[in-house]
Amino acid sequence: MHCARQVAPDIVWVGGNDKRLSMFEGVYAVPRGVSYNAYLLRDEKTVLFDTVDKAVAKVFYENVAHALAGRKLDYVVVHHMEPDHSATLDGLLEKYPEATLVCSRLTLAMTAQFFHKDLSGRALVVGEGDRLSLGNRELTFFMAPMVHWPEVMVTYESGDRALFSADAFGVFGAIDGALFADEVDFYGDYLDEARRYYCNIVGKYGPQTQALLKKMKALDIALVCPLHGFVHRRDFERYAACYDKWSRYEPEERGVMIACASIYGNTANAAETLSAKLRERGVRTVMFDVSVTPASEIVAAAFRFSHLVFASPTYNAGVFVTMEEVLRDIAAHNLQNRTIALIENGSWAPASGKLMRALLEPLKGTDFVGDVLTIKSSLRKEQETELDQLADAIADSVMGKAEEKTAEAPAAKKKFRCKVCGYIHEADELPADFKCPICGRGAEFFEEIE
Ligand code: FEO
Repeated sequence: MHCARQVAPDIVWVGGNDKRLSMFEGVYAVPRGVSYNAYLLRDEKTVLFDTVDKAVAKVFYENVAHALAGRKLDYVVVHHMEPDHSATLDGLLEKYPEATLVCSRLTLAMTAQFFHKDLSGRALVVGEGDRLSLGNRELTFFMAPMVHWPEVMVTYESGDRALFSADAFGVFGAIDGALFADEVDFYGDYLDEARRYYCNIVGKYGPQTQALLKKMKALDIALVCPLHGFVHRRDFERYAACYDKWSRYEPEERGVMIACASIYGNTANAAETLSAKLRERGVRTVMFDVSVTPASEIVAAAFRFSHLVFASPTYNAGVFVTMEEVLRDIAAHNLQNRTIALIENGSWAPASGKLMRALLEPLKGTDFVGDVLTIKSSLRKEQETELDQLADAIADSVMGKAEEKTAEAPAAKKKFRCKVCGYIHEADELPADFKCPICGRGAEFFEEIE
């Protein structure tokens, strides 16, 4: 039986929910499941925006047939070729042989990679600002490279003023029949999952997300229809403001995220004692054990808070394994502008403080506060003064009493954008032999932006 919902009189949600998936992309736990959204628009022409993951293929095909109500399918717009949205594209195109595939040039190349078929004979390749008339309405296509893959685009539809936003503005969690964000307590119940989704899926690509937000500002948008989660028809500015902060790497809250690794509880004891002292100084803290809490939650919390404390034993002369994994994950997501304090433990050769610093120091705008607190096996009573000093230094920084580091921040690097795939490279200058890591084009294909 179909399970579809009207987004607007002529737009139908034809996606599906998967509550049995345990790890999205094989790495992100989704205890509340995930939705794969697709939308069917009926005008003089009919358009399907995206397909779905193979897990929900059956209901998707039923939904599409139901929404078409006997009409033929004219167009299939593919915003993103990742298989959570395109695994059923091949099957869909076989079921609807008259449908024209509408996509970016890079998407078309990826269809050949995924399906081992040449679909160019039935494809309409579109680029930035191209338009497609459907009769009474018009579609306009905008490229959104690296939000989340290089081939990504979004579509603005003129009739209902809907933006089909691809992965942008998605959220983890099945929607279970509640299509609109205002049908649930989105900011109470889903914002944490929206942050975890953004930071882990797209967080590395802040400048590219900023570029999309800038394009959106020029549009009159009433509906935002993402590929995961809820459709936004009210109060979208609030969600857009979150994206603006996250993609600028600006913290949402002044407070401290403490992440600790602990083998026998002694490093955790030091971290918890520091947390208690920060609380006594009026500082909000959250604390995670990196061996227990999934890395994706810690990455999201690191994006949320202004100050971060990492506490780790020294292990095999390195950083404890689960802590190293989290720190590399944070660095891979390009987190910036955070103030960091470190606690190290080592029974004979403590070194994790220096090693953690080396992993985090390259991140743009990173500042360190206080001296590294060194524990030898376990925190001693005589070290309380040292711990108080660290708590004072962190609290002063959180409260803004410490000197503002922004005054001494290095000048921002230039940004160069690949005119073919949209990849943005930040550097003082672009070397003549530079090659785009996404599409392989040379420096002559790059333009300086902003
Ligand atoms: Fe939801 Fe990047 O795929």
